[in-house]
Amino acid sequence: MSDHALVRLEGVTKGFVKGQESIAIFKALDLAIPTGDFVAVMGPSGSGKTTLLNLLGGIDHVDAGAITVAGQRIDGLSENALARYRAANVGFVFQFYNLMPMLTAAQNVELPLLLTPLKKAQRRTHVETALAVVGLADRAKHYPREMSGGQQQRVAIARAIVSDPKILLCDEPTGDLDRATADEILGVLQTLNRELGKTIVMVTHDPAAARYAKRTLHLDKGQFFEKDLAA
Ligand SMILES: Nc1ncnc2c1ncn2[C@@H]1O[C@H](COP(=O)(O)OP(=O)(O)O)[C@@H](O)[C@H]1O
Ligand SMILES: [Mg+2]
Repeated sequence: MSDHALVRLEGVTKGFVKGQESIAIFKALDLAIPTGDFVAVMGPSGSGKTTLLNLLGGIDHVDAGAITVAGQRIDGLSENALARYRAANVGFVFQFYNLMPMLTAAQNVELPLLLTPLKKAQRRTHVETALAVVGLADRAKHYPREMSGGQQQRVAIARAIVSDPKILLCDEPTGDLDRATADEILGVLQTLNRELGKTIVMVTHDPAAARYAKRTLHLDKGQFFEKDLAA
């Protein structure tokens, strides 16, 4: 298919089996995300928001349908091929930062690069750039416990962008932060989108956070509804 979508879901069906019960999350779901988009995904708890990110990130598998990212079909890839896909294309940001407590900010940010052929000096340059982008150049040697929640989330964002991925997948990135700190983090994401061209898919419960995105998709009962929050 020739089109300009960076991410395309076609007829995606996904469910889980829990004991005797099978839960359908998505049934024949279609979605297109153009390059440079910043999409907020909202929806009730259990509607499948995290599952969507896991499918896009190649952490979980569809039951049926196709997912194409940057021209590559990722459904049906082997675990090794998915690991390569993730390393080259995807950065993840989580609600609770998921930093390694025994590593400094710089060492946390360097982690994804240890899987690449980059030499130590090149890795250091990439780490310094990523920390500078999130405004933490002066915190490279600090440990997570020495930083505020907002600073830890900046480190996590630096780690997510250090490999220069096309897509950032953010799951409630401001869910653990106060309003002012949340606004700072959302400003960082907006800058990554506007100035570095990162395509962002951000799950959030917070309508104020969703307003930083270019559009909002509401996920309910396995379908997306596009709503203009400003209207
Ligand atoms: N690995 C799994 N095994 C079984 N059920 C799961 C699994 N992951 C998610 N689910 C179920 O799928 C539904 C959607 O989950 P999730 O994507 O985490 O929703 P959300 O992020 O919107 O709250 C929930 O009912 C959840 O319990
Ligand atoms: Mg979730």
